Amino acid sequence: MEEIKIVLNEKEIPCAWYNIVADLPFQIPAGINPQTRKPLGKDDLRAIFPEQLIEQEISRKKWIAIPGHVRDIYRLWRPTPLRRARNLEKYLKVKSRIYYKDESVSPTGSHKTNTAVAQAFYNKQAGIKRLTTETGAGQWGAALSFACSMFSLGCRIYMVKVSFHQKPFRKSLMHIWGSEVIASPSEFSESGRQILRHDPHCQGSLGIAISEAVEEAVKRKDTNYSLGSVLNHVLLHQTVIGLETKRQLKLAGEAPDYLIACVGGGSNFGGFVFPFVKEKLQKGTLKIIAVEPTACPSLTKGKYAYDFGDTGGLTPLLKMFTLGHKFIPPGIHAGGLRYHGCSPLVSALRYKGIIESVAYHQLEVFKAAVLFAKLEGIVPAPETAHAVKAAIDIALKNSRRPRCIVLNFSGHGLLDLSAYDKFLNGELKNYAYPLCEIKKALNDLPLA
Ligand SMILES: Cc1ncc(COP(=O)(O)O)c(C=O)c1O
Repeated sequence: MEEIKIVLNEKEIPCAWYNIVADLPFQIPAGINPQTRKPLGKDDLRAIFPEQLIEQEISRKKWIAIPGHVRDIYRLWRPTPLRRARNLEKYLKVKSRIYYKDESVSPTGSHKTNTAVAQAFYNKQAGIKRLTTETGAGQWGAALSFACSMFSLGCRIYMVKVSFHQKPFRKSLMHIWGSEVIASPSEFSESGRQILRHDPHCQGSLGIAISEAVEEAVKRKDTNYSLGSVLNHVLLHQTVIGLETKRQLKLAGEAPDYLIACVGGGSNFGGFVFPFVKEKLQKGTLKIIAVEPTACPSLTKGKYAYDFGDTGGLTPLLKMFTLGHKFIPPGIHAGGLRYHGCSPLVSALRYKGIIESVAYHQLEVFKAAVLFAKLEGIVPAPETAHAVKAAIDIALKNSRRPRCIVLNFSGHGLLDLSAYDKFLNGELKNYAYPLCEIKKALNDLPLA
């Protein structure tokens, strides 16, 4: 009997995170201080990040030890299972084996907890009392709230206004773990007030919420900022996903032909695929595919250029695929994918042609998610559903070839059920690729 759950023992939780920078045959362009226009130094980051995370951000060391305390908390849900989607394979009548790495089993329901715990740990160690952050659909806000509660840190979360109202139960989770949740844009920050002056009904975006959270952290000595994606240290923490997957595939006697993950800021994608990239560079047959929404396709249609990570222009400039920091994506239900840019590490891999990207419309993504839930039982988060859709398409395209297809199941959708209700009632719509808005936003690139 073939196994459908490949599980590891607690002792097999990785002891170190993997830093892809050490294995890349090219340099990743450094961040830039927007005032001085010089490469970013440690001093530029000290106002909002603790020393250990700054070291990790710029490190070239291949392995970075995971502190015992962080590993102890990982033990609550890690290692996560690698599951085989047998029912889906049978339904599609394909010869491929489809596996999914199930990050939905974390206490907060997604991969975001992997970095939240690490970031809370290093901030606590540095004597910081509270953290601020942004959240879209609420997965990251919930994860950081959980982590802050583990380390008795205060936490204020600026939640994108459209999600604040669409996803009340993620807000409840954040409250249970003791965080304060504020609808962004808000009156709490100059960035928020400025936006509201121009547009009192603004629904918010991740870029705006980041500006509010960063502004507060810069102003308060006892407070740091924590980011749920994009930066090198965040993707580093997520490599536990790919490291475990590699071991699990080996146990199953498999070598992947396709690795697939959705991309917002790039953290679940990076964490899942980075440990495989060295082999891809050596052998080259593996295909690595990033999946995005058509409404916000930064890797697929964006420009590879320096841009701000936030709307208000408070962050350093990062070289990345971007749709322009002033672009406010349409209100798709995959709130975690509504980000104008993408991690510099993932962007560089895309620029060099090491990974590929595709984009899908909202309705086809929800259709694939419902099919997956019917066959495999787990309801995917709307973000995760993008990866599910791509895996189904690839399996169908290769229907006569026995491929090994592995996707990262970044989170469950049990707190996104109102979006599923709307889909089932025919109330969801597709958003066309917002060409005009993006063209306008790309005209505002800071170094253009
Ligand atoms: C379940 C889930 N998957 C994916 C993402 C996208 O983020 P990232 O690209 O950083 O993994 C999010 C973001 O909130 C998410 O909640």
